[in-house]
Amino acid sequence: MDRIRLWDKEFELFISEQEIRSAIMEMAKTIKKDIEGKNPLFVSILNGAFMFTADLMRELNGPYELTFARYSSYHGTSTTGSVNEIMPVKVDVKDRMVILLEDIIDTGTTMNYVMNRLRTQGAADVRLATMLYKPEAMKCSLVPDYTGLIIPPDFIVGRGLDYDELGRSYRDIYKLKV
Ligand code: IMP
Ligand code: MG
Repeated sequence: MDRIRLWDKEFELFISEQEIRSAIMEMAKTIKKDIEGKNPLFVSILNGAFMFTADLMRELNGPYELTFARYSSYHGTSTTGSVNEIMPVKVDVKDRMVILLEDIIDTGTTMNYVMNRLRTQGAADVRLATMLYKPEAMKCSLVPDYTGLIIPPDFIVGRGLDYDELGRSYRDIYKLKV
């Protein structure tokens, strides 16, 4: 499929499944080295990171603990800037290495908030792994520790990313047509 329609908008193919998967495979190799001999807690950020989490964990293929959390700060095609804790991390993070798994870093507001929160709760080392990163949209000093692909600040859907709840299930990534 080269084009899809979600609600009132048209999207065109932007990143193929193959491209995103090979980026995740590379990331997995780096993470695997960094967590050797440690007991990391992976935190998958719902809903968007579900497919990235499955891809990455399959590559890591180890005994790692994985939990899920959910925050919201995004409505429609532009960010609102405030963060709601819909389902915060329930596992005790004290003295642990925590690796957050996100679909995309846009302004960085959500992850900046969550990472600081986990540090306050006593996590020893809080890292961020993101499938996609839009550095030009960044509004804070956060830099992901692990990045799949760097992309321009366009609005995209697919592979977990949605436009008002539609489009998450596509295996490829699509960009809003302008
Ligand atoms: P941030 O707090 O501005 O970095 O926003 C991060 C969250 O906004 C991500 O977890 C996504 O859920 C959402 N988001 C950011 N950019 C896009 C996009 O291009 N398409 C769909 N959702 C996006
Ligand atoms: Mg998200």
